[in-house]
Amino acid sequence: MKIYVEDNYQKLSKKAAYILASQIRLKPDSVLGLATGDTPLGMYRELVAMHQREDLDFREIKTFNLDEYYGLEKENPQSYHYYMMENLFKHVNIRKENIHIPDGEASDIEEACSRYEGLIRQAGGIDLQVLGIGRNGHIGFNEPDVKFEATTHLVHLDADTIQANARFFDSIDKVPTQAISMGIKTIMQAKKIVLLASGHEKREIVQKALEGKILPELPASVLQLHNDVVVILDQKAAGELK
Ligand code: F6R
Repeated sequence: MKIYVEDNYQKLSKKAAYILASQIRLKPDSVLGLATGDTPLGMYRELVAMHQREDLDFREIKTFNLDEYYGLEKENPQSYHYYMMENLFKHVNIRKENIHIPDGEASDIEEACSRYEGLIRQAGGIDLQVLGIGRNGHIGFNEPDVKFEATTHLVHLDADTIQANARFFDSIDKVPTQAISMGIKTIMQAKKIVLLASGHEKREIVQKALEGKILPELPASVLQLHNDVVVILDQKAAGELK
């Protein structure tokens, strides 16, 4: 595990974008696993700027997002479909057919999940997976007490996650309680993982995830078992890491 501690969020975002851009330049048909949430926003801004300034080319890139709320329409501004279009996809030259996000409107959830896994396999697996970390240690929407062997599946969101995400909705009861998420096994099969964490409120969980015991109670701790993880933190999230 390689850990970079950057002075601030802006530098963290630039470092993350530089790693993704290098992946894209070295392998122009890379398969990228992408995350939503606040943390990667700066990275997406940098990637868009690199596309506009330096012609960073997304034409052959395929993407698979980690998760999507269950029960929200794609057009809903709180959906991860909407987030990805607004923050990355509509600003770069990615092909529509190369974008994959779990279907939050699927009526046959099991079929939708196994189709998603199949598409990842068909694409040759994920070359680089970007992750954020929840305050409770979740990655994707794999909440505490997760099964490490799980692949893409329907999850019930933790009270803590619902509360953390309420800031994006009009009120807490509008936050969906379920989501479709890649499982830990899906994430761990990525060839390379880049974990991002910013801000004081992530300090404690980051330290436990990176230096504590590997336990299903703390899903991100499983990353200690992956052989190619890059962690990018700002100083506030790094805290007292050894
Ligand atoms: C998002 C995702 C989540 C977030 C996590 C951190 O696709 O899967 O695991 O990465 O909740 O969110 P932020 O970055 O908003 O603190």
